[in-house]
Amino acid sequence: MKKLISFTLVILWCMLAVSQTEQVAIIPAPVSMSTQAGHFGLPKIIKVEAPNRPELKPALTLFSDKLKTTTGAEVNITAVENSSNTVRLILNKSPNSTIGKEGYDLKVTPAGITVRANEPAGLFYGIQTLWQLLPKEIEGQKSNKKIKWQAPCVTIEDYPRFAWRGLMFDVARHFFTKEQVERYIDDMVKYKFNLLHMHLTDDEGWRIEIKSLPNLTKVGAWNVKKVGYFGTFSAPTPDEPRDYGGFYSQDDIRELVKYAKERFVNILPEIDVPGHSLAAVVSYPELSCTPGADKYHVRSGEEIMDWSHGQPPVALVDNTLCPANEKVYDFLDKVLTEVAQLFPFGYIHMGGDECPKNYWEKSDAIKSLMQKEGLKNMEEVQSYFEKRLEKIVESKGKKFMGWDEILEGGLAPDAIVMSWRGIKGGIEAARQQHQVVMSPTTFVYLDYMQADRVMEPHVYATLRLKTCYQFEPVPDSVDAKYIMGGQANLWTEQVYNMRHAQYMTWPRALAIAECVWSPKDKKNWNDFEARTEQHFARLDAAETKYDPAVYDPIFKASKTADGKLQIEMSTEIDGLDIHYSFDNSFPDKFYPKYTQPLIPPKDAVEMKVITYRGDNPLGRMTVMSIQEMQRRADRKRSDDE
Ligand code: ACM
Repeated sequence: MKKLISFTLVILWCMLAVSQTEQVAIIPAPVSMSTQAGHFGLPKIIKVEAPNRPELKPALTLFSDKLKTTTGAEVNITAVENSSNTVRLILNKSPNSTIGKEGYDLKVTPAGITVRANEPAGLFYGIQTLWQLLPKEIEGQKSNKKIKWQAPCVTIEDYPRFAWRGLMFDVARHFFTKEQVERYIDDMVKYKFNLLHMHLTDDEGWRIEIKSLPNLTKVGAWNVKKVGYFGTFSAPTPDEPRDYGGFYSQDDIRELVKYAKERFVNILPEIDVPGHSLAAVVSYPELSCTPGADKYHVRSGEEIMDWSHGQPPVALVDNTLCPANEKVYDFLDKVLTEVAQLFPFGYIHMGGDECPKNYWEKSDAIKSLMQKEGLKNMEEVQSYFEKRLEKIVESKGKKFMGWDEILEGGLAPDAIVMSWRGIKGGIEAARQQHQVVMSPTTFVYLDYMQADRVMEPHVYATLRLKTCYQFEPVPDSVDAKYIMGGQANLWTEQVYNMRHAQYMTWPRALAIAECVWSPKDKKNWNDFEARTEQHFARLDAAETKYDPAVYDPIFKASKTADGKLQIEMSTEIDGLDIHYSFDNSFPDKFYPKYTQPLIPPKDAVEMKVITYRGDNPLGRMTVMSIQEMQRRADRKRSDDE
């Protein structure tokens, strides 16, 4: 009998350990983690031991504020070392070379929580992991004394794969306030991103105060508010007010930089030239090669480019700075003097992408520049510009960075390349022994739709979570030492507000976070997807919007041998049931379950589809017209166009 009791106890103990293992869902996945039986319950008075380091102070305030707000506990921070303190944040006296500058060791035992790191950044990341071990309500804003505030016992060793773990936020196409950018930073650091790339200038707005060039924000920061599908808007009329937009004052920028630094985030400023520069040209028309630029306006989403010929686009208005005009270099010198002073980060991104050349081709000034400098084509003209620009950036003590178009016509000597048109630009730059950040459209473009176009605000391409998760920053043919890391980009042409910015970012940024932090061999889609579902609840608790597209059906339309429309359905994640109707009513779990390709009834107009896991509806009610399916079958096209 005794034997039976102890056997039963062992089984129960194992079950407890397993159920706790299931609850642990850390994103990005740590380098190594083991779970032990038991947990640590937070006491009513939480003693936090932390080193007295100024760069850690703001993080400690955040730490204790969050604990106080949600658990209702009293939190006391002390520098006095004592093994009975509740949470011990310890800087290693002799550095642990394995974990580097940003890594940490985290141990939760029934007696307390200890985080060890070599540097304050590591302690900060250890804390981010600790939040994920606590109940999801820790992400909320309410005190919740009914929750069992406890963390499972774990031992974690963790450090990042890449030093550059970036998200880009385009604040030019639509302006986002300082407070909204701060919120973006709050969300990104939870997943250990350490770099915010701010796309500060474009055809639709100049967003940073440059004191020596006041027109940039007096004129260049404002356009006409339009909603609908950006790129197709009617041209603004003179009576429509140009009062939409905004900019960051230099004080705002300093505050943002400080806010980011307190959370161990660097801000990379981007000033996008020589293309994408209409706001600058409108502010100072003498920077253009084209007569009549003084009649231009900051773009309000009307068509200004013809993309039908591919890259580079053909401009309908000249949105470029003129490489043959000395005033342009004086202008850029002034801009960069102030930008370099405002942003302590060592790099400045100077854009360089999608620069149309058709107006340069018509310019006498460009023709004489080509003659004088022996430039053979427009790519070499842009390369001449980029090389001069690199010198200006370097004269301000910064490193020069640009999109992969800066390779064309010859790369500036020390330029760092951000590879966005796939990975080939990055491969070529690395072959030329330049540093690279990988940011390919194919895996990390957060402006693309996350599901079928019938479910999402329309953008010209789709990028699903599962594809994001396949992002690999180091191509096989490249020496890893040239790859600084990876970055996902949120362009905001079609993003009109902050809730939608969040929706486009999450959960895809979870996948990117894992691709740039976790060891390659730790990546596992099924495991990641299960953790992501747990993080949906955390995002809900944090009131951060996300796209639940992983639950939605994926449609495939084709034709049978005898020419009938055939519809196949699947889901991004395993284990979902797909229920459907062709009779216009709303399906639920009592409707037919999809098991094999379907031939729609002859006169059916639409199908409605919903996914379930067991008894729980998960996906959104998806309405797909038969006409759309027919169109895709006829044109052999998928949902991403
Ligand atoms: C880019 O997406 N044009 C860099």
